[in-house]
Amino acid sequence: MELILKNATVIDPLTNFEGKKDIAIRNGKIDKIGNLKSNNRLDLTGCYIFPSLFDLHTHLREPGDESSETICTGIAAASHGGYGTICAMPNSNPPNDSALVMGYLKYKIEHKGCRVLPIGAISAGLEGKSLSDMYSLKDEGAIAYSDDGNSVYDAGLLKHAMMIAQSIDMPLFLHEEDRSLSSGGVMREGAVSARLGLCGISASAESSMIARDLEIARETGVRVHFCHISCRRSIELIKNAKSDGMPVTCEVTPHHLSFTDEDVGQYDTNTKVNPPLPSISDRDDLIDALIAGDIDAVATDHAPHAADLKARSFQDAPFGISGVETALPLLFTKLVKSGRMSFMSLLYKMIVSPAKIAGFSPSCIKKGEAANLVIFKPLKFKVLENFFLSKGKNSPLIGKELTGEVFATLFHGKFSYRKADGII
Ligand code: NCD
Ligand code: ZN
Ligand code: ZN
Ligand code: ZN
Repeated sequence: MELILKNATVIDPLTNFEGKKDIAIRNGKIDKIGNLKSNNRLDLTGCYIFPSLFDLHTHLREPGDESSETICTGIAAASHGGYGTICAMPNSNPPNDSALVMGYLKYKIEHKGCRVLPIGAISAGLEGKSLSDMYSLKDEGAIAYSDDGNSVYDAGLLKHAMMIAQSIDMPLFLHEEDRSLSSGGVMREGAVSARLGLCGISASAESSMIARDLEIARETGVRVHFCHISCRRSIELIKNAKSDGMPVTCEVTPHHLSFTDEDVGQYDTNTKVNPPLPSISDRDDLIDALIAGDIDAVATDHAPHAADLKARSFQDAPFGISGVETALPLLFTKLVKSGRMSFMSLLYKMIVSPAKIAGFSPSCIKKGEAANLVIFKPLKFKVLENFFLSKGKNSPLIGKELTGEVFATLFHGKFSYRKADGII
């Protein structure tokens, strides 16, 4: 059967096309683009259509912490957020450090409304003591290696991992944090942490580790992607490495672009995240660097946690923000609606760049391409707990107003998300 999406503004950041076009979908693929007539059509006046988003950094929690998220609820949440691909971080329990866990994951992600690309661990058990089964992880479909949640503290072990990754053309996704600087800290170190009496994590806990790892990467030639960078010095170090021709990239999260240490307010555990929310000046530098192109991609670092875990004291609650469903509305509101960035450039950072970093060809709107599309309308809405399909309702956006809702997400021509009382 044919479905025609009519009267929307199509944005394709790969070809830099923006304009009114109708799209016909047949057998899961884009069949025709132009001015089309048919009975089975949806009038999408006032909506945007663009290729589904690509997330480089998602936590699915299964196996091990299914009360915070399962693969099934994580995929539902990703589809609600407009994502058609998510890269699953390996810090489940047990972690994805071997062909065994990879097999389980691959079985669970089959035939669902979103492509899930597994990331394998760098170290066995994410313990930082010996290497994971890096070769079999690649054979079983890992697209990168990461010990996310921790950095690889042992520089010798990291160098060994870099040499192996380089030899089999795999990238490392690095969470950068020197725990001798960050240990015990719960928010960004500064005037606000001092006022609240909370132990701080300095920006240098991140940037000093990036500096160390860039030196080792320089010797090995490995492709390195820096996760969730959060301060000015990290931006500068990575920019310098790029200007030396090193194959390095980096991502920033929607929350580090939108919130600051001031938002911790009265010990709101929904703002407790690692790396911690930046100072105002670092947040402004992150926005500038994204616009200038020094930051390659936006990644959600979707880190759902069950309500009882986030109900603990600020000191004891786990780090993390549930972010895959609010990423697009939040950045549309903060960056596009405010006039700081074009929608085209924002979508480039959420569709094209991430796919390239993960080694995939970016999806686009072209005849014969899979119909993996988002229907988005710039309407105001209030984020309530029942907005989240994720089991993690841990978001500093609850109660806040945003502009820009995903009305539907199509995965191979079928609705993976469709707003119940929407226009569609
Ligand atoms: C992540 C998690 O909960 O797994 N938490 C977080 O605050 N970002 C771990 C991580 O991304 O480092
Ligand atoms: Zn399901
Ligand atoms: Zn991390
Ligand atoms: Zn993470």
